[in-house]
Amino acid sequence: MDPKPFSQACENNKEPILSHLKKAFANVAHVLEVGSGTGQHAVYFASAMQHLHWHCSDLEDYHQGINQWIDDFPSKNLHRPFTLKLARDEWKSTSSTSGEMFDGIYSANTAHIMLKHEIKALMASVAYHLPKNGVFCQYGPFIVDGKFTSDSNAEFHESLISAGRGGYRDISELAAWAPELVLTQRIDMPANNMLLIWQRK
Ligand SMILES: C[S@@+](CC[C@H](N)C(=O)[O-])C[C@H]1O[C@@H](n2cnc3c(N)ncnc32)[C@H](O)[C@@H]1O
Repeated sequence: MDPKPFSQACENNKEPILSHLKKAFANVAHVLEVGSGTGQHAVYFASAMQHLHWHCSDLEDYHQGINQWIDDFPSKNLHRPFTLKLARDEWKSTSSTSGEMFDGIYSANTAHIMLKHEIKALMASVAYHLPKNGVFCQYGPFIVDGKFTSDSNAEFHESLISAGRGGYRDISELAAWAPELVLTQRIDMPANNMLLIWQRK
C-alpha cells in the first residue's frame, strides 16, 4: 500500500482554522467536507469537535489516503469518504449514514483548483442544499475586489491557469453564484489565505 499522503500546509493551517471552526460550527450537527484531500483536516477537526459528525468526500483517487488517516486516527464522529465530484455527481443532501441533513459544509483549497463550472456548481449546490441558517466555511486564497492579496498569489494563479486549473476566484464572483448565502465573516489567515464564513438566509 502507498504511504499515507501528507500535506505540510495542512499541518500548518489546521490549528488556526480549527479555532474559527469551533465558533462557526458550534451549533452544527453534520458537516460535509468537499475535497477532503489527504484527510488530515478531517481527522483533526472531527477529533476536536466531538459535538458534530464529520463526513469526508472527494474524488475516488483520494479515498485510499483519507481512509489510511482515518484508520490511524479513528473517531466515532468521523465518517469515511464518499465520492463527490462537483458538476459531475449528484449532491447528496442527506448524510450517508444517519439520514440527517448536512447543516454545515467545509471546503479548503478547492475554489482555485476547480474549473469555473465546478466551483460555480459548488456554490450553487451549497446555497441550494444548506438548510436555513446552515453554515459554509470556505478556506483558501481568494481575489478581493479584483486584486490579489500578494504577488505570490498572483504568480500561483498564473501557474494554475497554465496547468489547466480554474485559478483564483474573486469573492464577489462566488457570492454572485450563491445569492441565497450571506458572507458573514471574511477572516484573514496566515500565508495570505482567508476563511470565508457563509450563512444560508
Ligand atoms: C488542493 S487540494 C485541497 C485538499 C484539502 N482540502 C487541503 O486543504 O489540503 C484540492 C482538492 O479539491 C478536490 N477537487 C478538485 N476538483 C473537484 C471537484 N470537481 N469536486 C470535488 N472535489 C474536487 C481535489 O480532489 C482535491 O482533494
